[in-house]
Amino acid sequence: EAAPPFDLKALKEDIEAIVSDDLSKGPLFVRLAWHEAGSWDCKKKDGSPNSASMRFRPECDYSGNAGLDKARKALEPLKQKYPQISYADLWSLAAVVSIETMGGPAVPWRWGRVDAKDGSVCGPDGRLPDGSKTQNHVREVFTRLGFNDDETVALIGAHTCGECHLENSGFKGPWTHDKYGFDNSFFTELFNNEWEINPDVKNLQFMDRATKNLMMLPADMAILLDDKYRAIAKKYAADNELFCASFAKAYQKLLELGTKNLKSVPRE
Ligand code: HEM
Ligand code: CA
Repeated sequence: EAAPPFDLKALKEDIEAIVSDDLSKGPLFVRLAWHEAGSWDCKKKDGSPNSASMRFRPECDYSGNAGLDKARKALEPLKQKYPQISYADLWSLAAVVSIETMGGPAVPWRWGRVDAKDGSVCGPDGRLPDGSKTQNHVREVFTRLGFNDDETVALIGAHTCGECHLENSGFKGPWTHDKYGFDNSFFTELFNNEWEINPDVKNLQFMDRATKNLMMLPADMAILLDDKYRAIAKKYAADNELFCASFAKAYQKLLELGTKNLKSVPRE
């Protein structure tokens, strides 16, 4: 335990203010922290996760990170206002504050991430999951990151918030009707709808037959196709508290991949 060298309470309020002012920033920050961490390889112990290496080329130019420049830009004024925090801590804190602001669980947050100095440590392109692929690919990516099936399914439940943007990924639309809320509705929508191909989008994606407003990626549908993933998702669909608890644990683990000697914030 150690008090951080910046005013954590004031910083959290400043992050909350950014998210309340523009709700789309909440999911964007959740995706920024995830992609920053998602370059890890737990065997090779490389990829520079949780180091804000995405500020640098080549990583910032990887197609999977399209659109995340907006998230980095939105947080830059807070790095200027609180220069003692590392970018990596700031990005992970913004994600954690966003999840709570959207009504999701309190993800335990520890500080002390060390920023990369330049792009020489960036992992190779292609380590983030590809939305057009299915369960073999998803399992390969999350196993490389060090996650089991329970954790993997919980993490993908983050698609309860936010949406796809044609200009970022070639996919379009939200997974749930309340895209700025955070609960187990990704799983309830997945099970409670009939899904058909969306004929209006060039990339293969699915839409719900009832309203046609919701979407699923092929990689999301893989949760239904894979027996192990489906059984886990069923449990999360039936129990929001179980989902929130599992998500909080897995997301904390994600945001601490590859880090050393993080410190807990002393209780007030
Ligand atoms: C958005 C794919 C796992 C959080 C997206 C988008 C794609 C995608 C294609 C749309 C990006 C855009 O067009 O702006 C995938 C795939 C996954 C995966 C294939 C694994 C199979 C995760 C995980 C998290 C996450 C593990 C976090 C724990 C998000 C969020 C958004 C998003 C919050 C919405 C961003 C926004 O609204 O701007 N994902 N994702 N995703 N993803 Fe994932
Ligand atoms: Ca990184």
